[in-house]
Amino acid sequence: MIFRLLPILIVTSLSACVKDSSKLKMIRRPYVQNVWADSASVIWKTNVQTDNCHIMYGINQVYADKMGKTVKNPDGTFTHTVTLTGLQQGQRYKYTVYNDNVMLDNSEMNFIDAQRTDSTVGFSFLAFGDMGRNPYDDGFPQVTATQILALPRHPDFITALGDIVYPSGESSKYDEYLFGPFAYAFSNIPFYPALGNHDWGVNPDENFCKEWKLPNNEHYYSYNYQNTHFITLDSKDGDFYNFAEQKAWLINDLQQAQGLYDFIVVSLHHPGRNCTYKGDGANVMTLYPIFAQYNVDLVLNGHAHTYERLHPFDANGNVLEQFRNNIQQYPDLPNGFISITAGAGGVLQPNFTPDGCNLAAKQYHRGHFIQFEISGKKLTAKAYDLQSGLVFDQFDMQK
Ligand SMILES: [Fe+2]
Repeated sequence: MIFRLLPILIVTSLSACVKDSSKLKMIRRPYVQNVWADSASVIWKTNVQTDNCHIMYGINQVYADKMGKTVKNPDGTFTHTVTLTGLQQGQRYKYTVYNDNVMLDNSEMNFIDAQRTDSTVGFSFLAFGDMGRNPYDDGFPQVTATQILALPRHPDFITALGDIVYPSGESSKYDEYLFGPFAYAFSNIPFYPALGNHDWGVNPDENFCKEWKLPNNEHYYSYNYQNTHFITLDSKDGDFYNFAEQKAWLINDLQQAQGLYDFIVVSLHHPGRNCTYKGDGANVMTLYPIFAQYNVDLVLNGHAHTYERLHPFDANGNVLEQFRNNIQQYPDLPNGFISITAGAGGVLQPNFTPDGCNLAAKQYHRGHFIQFEISGKKLTAKAYDLQSGLVFDQFDMQK
């Protein structure tokens, strides 16, 4: 109903550039990126070049038109990006994408929730890794996407914990293994991925970085949502991309964030100290003193295709013993942080049984993702089983 008048409007305004568009096809549905309080980007792909790309967007039935930019890809397809500015925080904008005079997609799932800036309203985000796996082999990205869309609370964004697309992070697999299964989630939930070792199977600058529109250098970056600061790192093969430079950037970023946020969350692909089958990540562990010193609350990783929530660690990766006995409710952790492996967002490690190690508050070996909610000084985490849709682990942090 809302969009019924749009084709008429567009035909009228763009009649000068009508041409044969019978070959025009959308080959990747629109996805949203960099959704902040006052701006957002919408990206999609077509098979042929067009004279222009644009979206109609608005609140209720009042629509504006915004033109975008088109880039030709090495495979001969075309990526279209429209960046909206001047959005009103907290508003939901519906959008419809067009190339020339052709309306390509007007799904009800195409919407942007401009960030709400009031931290008492709260927000929600998802975390999981290792998702873009072949659904006709051992992968289940479509199950993850279906469960996300069934959540009682719509997530404001996803922080993705690396190994975004298997087997090697190549652009040619993105549609089949990731954008296809997640099509109706990505059109309204911004996705902020970390690079994993599989994403480094090809040159990320020629693949990963061309699929996403992310802050900073796209390998490592930070952003804020209400009262929370988010940092995404690039741990490459476990040895980190430009480690000295990235570490200096991390320290500076954390220093800048001190005192401004109630929570700080770090996402990266490799675990540090852990009990999974992957072994300890020595380079990640060298960052522990930094995490502890600069008040990081959560360190989220993938890589091991299982779930493992560890007891709060200190700067040396030792368990803060005073928090061992109440694993459901935490206060502000003094110079400590909680490390969680959530690496079965699209594939589960076969023939693995958690060993019941004493570092872990909870181990669980099924496909999963975590939904975090932060409202004021309270953080709540709920980990969902992908098969049952039920919560299997839960904890709070109250500052
Ligand atoms: Fe990995």
